[in-house]
Amino acid sequence: MESQLFESKIYLVTGGAAGIGLATTAQLLSHGAYVYAVDLSKDPSKELSALPQERLTYEQCDVRDRKRCHEVVTSIVEKHGRLDGLVNNAGICPLEGEMPGDDVFEEVYGVNVRGVWNMGTEALTVMREQKGGNVVNIGSISSSHGVARIPLYTSSKHAVLGLTRTWALDFAKYGVRVNCVAPGPTDTQMSRTPLQTVMGPKYGGNKTDDELLELVAATIPLGKIGRPEDIANMINFFMSDLACFITGQIVHVSGGQ
Ligand code: NAI
Repeated sequence: MESQLFESKIYLVTGGAAGIGLATTAQLLSHGAYVYAVDLSKDPSKELSALPQERLTYEQCDVRDRKRCHEVVTSIVEKHGRLDGLVNNAGICPLEGEMPGDDVFEEVYGVNVRGVWNMGTEALTVMREQKGGNVVNIGSISSSHGVARIPLYTSSKHAVLGLTRTWALDFAKYGVRVNCVAPGPTDTQMSRTPLQTVMGPKYGGNKTDDELLELVAATIPLGKIGRPEDIANMINFFMSDLACFITGQIVHVSGGQ
């Protein structure tokens, strides 16, 4: 579906090369926005390259790198004079288990918390000055529930919700809205990675990833795994003026899980 919902608006999407970030970028473009998608690799992914390029810019940016986040946001503002929205989407979910090491702590918190903090505070600095803007942080159903064998991912996503709620209070007076979209199991590369550690032991460790995904789908009230587009729909609702009276909220897009 195409529209002019976001005509001439300027958005920044982290982790935009794949999965939910890619689907969000595609939808924002189809509704008329200019989109800056950032991700780890030097070149855009082939999926990103296949999107219409007229209003799309790809930049390499590791969200753990504060200086690079500052450069990206500054260059957008220099070019367009403002930044209308940030989708703080980049995240990782490595294999953890009951007692992951300190190195995994640094890895997970570096991206999921420090990365959200880095790009969030860079964007909010601009939005406070321009008196308006929108941030959508990507949490998880584990932002508000415990999930066995991924203690660091789960607690990092609780932190994302804490930042969302606090930023919403602190920046409302500047006309800035901040919300959190919390996906349930969604069919991306990430959802397959932790399957074996989170679910495998329950089934004796002898199920394939596809079999485990089927079992996950069976636990979801709507009986299916989410598509990246399903999550992007809610992100872009929050980004739009349709959500102009909503801030500080978390919405689970999880098939009822
Ligand atoms: P994905 O793995 O398909 O895509 C994540 C993207 O982020 C990748 O392109 C990756 O290169 C990028 N990225 C990773 N570290 C980065 C860094 N330091 N700097 C910049 N980019 C970086 O994952 P997916 O599923 O699209 O996840 C997106 C968000 O949704 C994440 O925050 C994740 O925690 C969240 N989520 C995903 C769920 C799922 O089932 N797929 C469930 C709940 C939450």
